[in-house]
Amino acid sequence: MEDHEIYAAVGEDGFRRLVSAFYRQVPTDDILGPMYPPGDLAGAEQRLRDFLVGRFGGPPRYVEERGHPRLRMRHMPFAVTAAARDRWVELMTRALDDARFPAGADALLREFFAAVATMMINRE
Ligand code: HEM
Repeated sequence: MEDHEIYAAVGEDGFRRLVSAFYRQVPTDDILGPMYPPGDLAGAEQRLRDFLVGRFGGPPRYVEERGHPRLRMRHMPFAVTAAARDRWVELMTRALDDARFPAGADALLREFFAAVATMMINRE
């Protein structure tokens, strides 16, 4: 399996379930909860979903609406410490466990999230 084939393998519904399982855990999380906009969690959920859909072979809605991702830059306003990075990956790992994607898609996504999350660290 290659990155751009993941959307075909898990579908729009797969990404919807994954991102929804991630965000379900955010409000009560002691590190991540306070970082996300309390009044716009649904918007945050949609931005992550649209980004992932486009990144993995689906319609490019994120780029159409938000432009070039520039994820590291967009995360600068948030204090992404190593602890926040580890927690983010932990929540996403749980969401992937719930989603039960085909093995090839699952492995690529786990690797991707771990690597990108490490790149987002921007504070000691
Ligand atoms: C490392 C830990 C991370 C933390 C603490 C974090 C936190 C946040 C926060 C607080 C936001 C603002 C929510 C909003 O959209 O209103 C955000 C946005 C976003 N994050 Fe993360 N994030 C992390 C890692 C990641 C990773 C690994 C990805 C990609 C796989 C990602 C993708 C995004 C995207 C696409 C947005 C929306 C950007 C925009 O268009 O404004 N984040 N993140």
